[in-house]
Amino acid sequence: MQETIISVKDVNYRYSANLEAVRGISFEVRKGESVGILGPNGAGKSTLAMLLAGLFLPTSGDVKAFGVSTRSKEFEHVRPRIGIVFQDPEDQLFNNTVIDDVSYSLRNLGVDKESANRRSMETLELLGIAHLKDRSPHRLSYGEKKRVSIATALVNSPELLILDEPTANLDLRSRRSLVELVNLLNKQGLTLIVSTHDVEALPDLVERVLIMEGGKIVSEGPVKSIITDEQLLGEASLEPPAISRLFMRLKARGLVQEVPSNLEDAFLILEKKLSNKSGS
Ligand SMILES: Nc1ncnc2c1ncn2[C@@H]1O[C@H](COP(=O)(O)OP(=O)(O)O)[C@@H](O)[C@H]1O
Ligand SMILES: [Mg+2]
Repeated sequence: MQETIISVKDVNYRYSANLEAVRGISFEVRKGESVGILGPNGAGKSTLAMLLAGLFLPTSGDVKAFGVSTRSKEFEHVRPRIGIVFQDPEDQLFNNTVIDDVSYSLRNLGVDKESANRRSMETLELLGIAHLKDRSPHRLSYGEKKRVSIATALVNSPELLILDEPTANLDLRSRRSLVELVNLLNKQGLTLIVSTHDVEALPDLVERVLIMEGGKIVSEGPVKSIITDEQLLGEASLEPPAISRLFMRLKARGLVQEVPSNLEDAFLILEKKLSNKSGS
């Protein structure tokens, strides 16, 4: 069994006496996994992401990353192993130029300027945005800001990457390149936690999913079965992706047997069915 990267035990988080955003959550994430936290607006996903990165401390319960409690003093040594991309890029970018934002964490860790700049440029190239290096982050388009934010989280070569709503407000092409990048990094061994309400993107991003609602985890399982479970999602004010809903209607008419979770699986089902037909 792979090493436990994240261990969350009976965690509660209160913003104020009558606002409990996370309520009694427990789960584990193992090395190399890709896990989605799926839930409607206000479910507590962003709060949970902050708890996982050790940026918020639980009101009660414990979060451990790489075996170290986020409350402990030792946690400062673990923090560089975790990259987090906030829901809002404005929370992530505060320097005058893109390259300064991306190299910021390295320079903070005492990496010399030349190496910090070299690694930052490599990361910008990986994200296809090397040309933005001297621009002001605040004058970029939303999709560009989002990619710069991802660069700031990746520059340190983290072992765990937490992405909060990575696909929100991205055009289709940016979205696809984000999905490809995330899959590539995960294949290379990066552990991934993606918090989102985007049922369309999730099946392409992660393998396992936790459904969060009202501050609690209400169910969990493989993304392909969870995301096509209309009743389960409905209980959390969500619905399956459009392609799954289309196949559910075809299945109700007896025209197909399976319900896919994404376009690729839908294609395979139809290809098989249509080529059987033409062959008979
Ligand atoms: N900084 C904050 N101060 C007070 N309440 C907050 C703060 N951030 C979020 N909340 C509240 O906590 C709950 C969970 O929010 P959040 O974690 O942002 O959910 P999600 O990311 O799933 O939309 C919501 O009721 C939200 O209004
Ligand atoms: Mg959120």
